[in-house]
Amino acid sequence: MSRILILGGTGYTGRLIAQYLLAQSNAEITIATRHPDKAQAYADSLNEQYPGHRAKAIYADASQPDSLRPAFADQTLVAVAAPTTAYTAEVIRTALDMGVDYLDVQLGAKKLALLQSSADEIERAGRCFITEAGFHPGLPSALVRYAASQLHPIESAITLGYLNMGKDLPYSEAVDEVIESFKKYSGQVFQNGRWTSPRSFDVRTFHFGGDIGSKRCYAMFFEELGLLPDMLPSLRETGFYISEQHWMLDWVVMPIAWAWLKLAPNAVRPIGKFLWWGMGTFHKPPYRVELQVQAAGLKDGRPATMQATVSHTDGYELTAIPVVATILQYLDGSAKKPGLWMMGHLVDPPRLMRDMEAMGITCTTRIEAAPGDT
Ligand SMILES: NC(=O)c1ccc[n+]([C@@H]2O[C@H](COP(=O)([O-])OP(=O)(O)OC[C@H]3O[C@@H](n4cnc5c(N)ncnc54)[C@H](OP(=O)(O)O)[C@@H]3O)[C@@H](O)[C@H]2O)c1
Repeated sequence: MSRILILGGTGYTGRLIAQYLLAQSNAEITIATRHPDKAQAYADSLNEQYPGHRAKAIYADASQPDSLRPAFADQTLVAVAAPTTAYTAEVIRTALDMGVDYLDVQLGAKKLALLQSSADEIERAGRCFITEAGFHPGLPSALVRYAASQLHPIESAITLGYLNMGKDLPYSEAVDEVIESFKKYSGQVFQNGRWTSPRSFDVRTFHFGGDIGSKRCYAMFFEELGLLPDMLPSLRETGFYISEQHWMLDWVVMPIAWAWLKLAPNAVRPIGKFLWWGMGTFHKPPYRVELQVQAAGLKDGRPATMQATVSHTDGYELTAIPVVATILQYLDGSAKKPGLWMMGHLVDPPRLMRDMEAMGITCTTRIEAAPGDT
C-alpha cells in the first residue's frame, strides 16, 4: 500500500489533491499542516466520503525540520502543496534522509535551483523527485510533448494560457510566490531554432478559437520549456504566451503592480493583494482557465496543424488534477524513475490527457491538414 503525505493538505490545491487521490487510487493519505486540528477535521470528512478509512492527519511545519522527520517516516511520497519555497532545503534534506520520494507544485526559481543542486544525490539515492507539477508550471511542456506524440516530426509548438476565474478567484498566501516569480520575469521564446534574449519581450495575437476568440498575448518563459528543443530536436519554435484580460487589468492594474514591485521589491504581499483585487474586480466572460498548444508538423507524412486544449472553470482543479494524474503514473511504476524530473518531462502525455479528462478536465484535440496541402 502506498502512503502519500500532502504537505499543505488543507489548502485550495492540497485538499483537491487529497480528494482525487482517494477517488483514483488505493493510496493512504496523510494531511500535514501546522494546524493538526484543522487537518484532522478534513481527514475525518474525507473518511466519510471515501472508502477504506485511508486519510489521517499529522502536524508538520516546513520551517521546523524536527517536525518533518516524524511526519515523513514510513511515507512513500511527499507531495508539497504549501507555499513553503523558503524551506525547500529542509524539505529536500528530510525526504532524502528518510528515503521518501517527492513532488512539488510550487513556483520558484530558488526552489528549482536547490533541487537541481541536489539532483546527483537524488539519483544516487534512487529517489524519484518530481518538480514543477500542476497547471503552470506543469502542463505547458506536457502539452508540447503531447503535440510531439501526434506530429512526426514536430516543427513548432506554442503554448497559450487564458486565466479568467472572474470574481470567484480565491486569494491565498501562495499568491506571494506568483509575485516573487515576477522578479525573475523573462519573455524568452524559441524562434527559428534559437532562444531569444532573456530581456526580450514578445507580444503576439493568437486565435484561441471558440468563445475566447483572438487575444493579444504576452510571452512568458517557464524553466520547463528550456529543455524542450533538446528533447525534441526537430522543434524550431516554442514558448508560452499569456492572454490579455480586461483592459483595466492590462493597462492600469498590471503596470501599477510592476512599477510597485520595481520600487518596493519587499512589498510582495500588498502587491499580490492588489493584483488579486484587480483580477477579481475587472473581468468579462468567458470565465475559465485554459491552456492550449498550437502546433505544426507532419501527420502521416503530410503537413498538419494541431490544437489541443485543457480547461476548467476552477484553476485549482486544473492544478490538482494533472498532479494526481502524474501520481497515478508514479504509483503504477511507469513514472517512478530515480532522479529529478519536471512533471511535464516525465509523464506519458497521451495518458495524462486521458486521465485528466476522466477526472473532469475538458480536453480537446484537433489535427487538420495544413492550409494549402491537398
Ligand atoms: N503549479 C501550479 O499550476 C500551481 C497553481 C496554483 C498554486 N500552486 C502552488 O500551490 C501551493 C499551494 O497554494 P494554495 O493556493 O493551495 O495555498 P493555500 O490555500 O494557502 O494553502 C496552503 C496550505 O499549506 C499549509 N502551510 C502553510 N505554511 C505551511 C508550513 N510552513 N508548513 C506546513 N504547511 C504549511 C496551510 O496549512 P496551515 O496554515 O494550517 O499550516 C495550507 O494547508 C503554492 O506553492 C502555490 O504556488 C501551483
